[in-house]
Amino acid sequence: MTVLRTRVAIVGAGPAGLLLSHLLARAGIASVLLDSRSRQEIETTIRAGILEQGTVEILGEIPGSRVHSVGRRHDGIELAFDGEGHRIDFAGLVGRGVWLYPQHEVLRDLVAARLADGQDLRFGVTVEGVEGADTAAPGVLATDAEGRPLRLEAEVVVGADGSHSIVRRSVWGGHAAGMFREYPYAWFGILCEAPPSAEELIYSRSADGFALISQRSPTIQRMYFQCDPDLDPASMSDAQIWDTLQRRVPGTTLHEGAIIQRDVLRFRSFVASDLRRGRVVIVGDAAHTVPPTGAKGMNLAVADVVLLAEALEASLTRADERPFDAFAERALRRIWKAQHFSWWMTSMLHVAPGQSEFDARRALGELRTVAESEAGRTYLAEGYTGWPLG
Ligand code: PHB
Repeated sequence: MTVLRTRVAIVGAGPAGLLLSHLLARAGIASVLLDSRSRQEIETTIRAGILEQGTVEILGEIPGSRVHSVGRRHDGIELAFDGEGHRIDFAGLVGRGVWLYPQHEVLRDLVAARLADGQDLRFGVTVEGVEGADTAAPGVLATDAEGRPLRLEAEVVVGADGSHSIVRRSVWGGHAAGMFREYPYAWFGILCEAPPSAEELIYSRSADGFALISQRSPTIQRMYFQCDPDLDPASMSDAQIWDTLQRRVPGTTLHEGAIIQRDVLRFRSFVASDLRRGRVVIVGDAAHTVPPTGAKGMNLAVADVVLLAEALEASLTRADERPFDAFAERALRRIWKAQHFSWWMTSMLHVAPGQSEFDARRALGELRTVAESEAGRTYLAEGYTGWPLG
């Protein structure tokens, strides 16, 4: 058995875990970062694409970050319904924007920066559980990439290990120790080889359901349409996929191209019953998940980590426990705002199976209230570009 000691043990090398190790290192606090996946898998899995302005300000400070050179600023989105598009002008309404910069690019930047900084970052390590959450010396039990047992002892353990978090399960018990809401639909997502079909992202509610026209690069696009959660992604032909997408964004003709990836994304809203127990904390998707409509997932993980890094710096360098004691409550304020925003965007734009005529028309009334009023557009722009951090 290998035994390692560090100040902060971080489980999960996604955006939350990597950014936390960076902010801790900047404060002179050592950490060890473990992930069950390989570096290649972490850096190539296609995930979300939109960064809030505050997220970009933090990531842009990391040495070597390409968020400003490769990422593209978007100053608005198009909200489409009832056959018409309405631009939400973020820059004009709130003086802020978002960046289209895919999560796997964020991860490539962060992994390179952490390794260049000498971070102890171990891939292929399977975490089995956490011991001693209520003691001053919690520990992580794992199996390393060579199959040997590993014990990581620390002053604080952070679970940044995603929605199927082992840390949450091991410390809080049941897999679903928290509050959640299911949705009766999922997203069919594709990556295709085509030029962008519009300058900005299009969020469209049509009579048949929701579609989102997003982007990845000048030659690769990401698009989604609302589907049944049990749909087999292989069951639709390329022609059926394009026909569905074209019908869901009336008024826009999408540039079609080879479909190079397809997947069905199920989603739910979830908030863990507690973010902290003793010296163990959970952040990011381990602590909460949101439906993807508001593009809040990765941004919320970054917001958790900014607060947690401040709290750990106070606790571990000045023995001031107050920020750590206040962490969960402070983080939860933003988490519930983001939960509401994501639920609101989702329910307003999707057509629930069997939705009554009344509810369908009410949703159009809601969209019209947002699009035709400056107060409504500002509300959307504030939430989408992100509330102030910290
Ligand atoms: C994406 O590009 O993957 C994306 C963009 C905006 C969203 C969700 C996903 O709201």
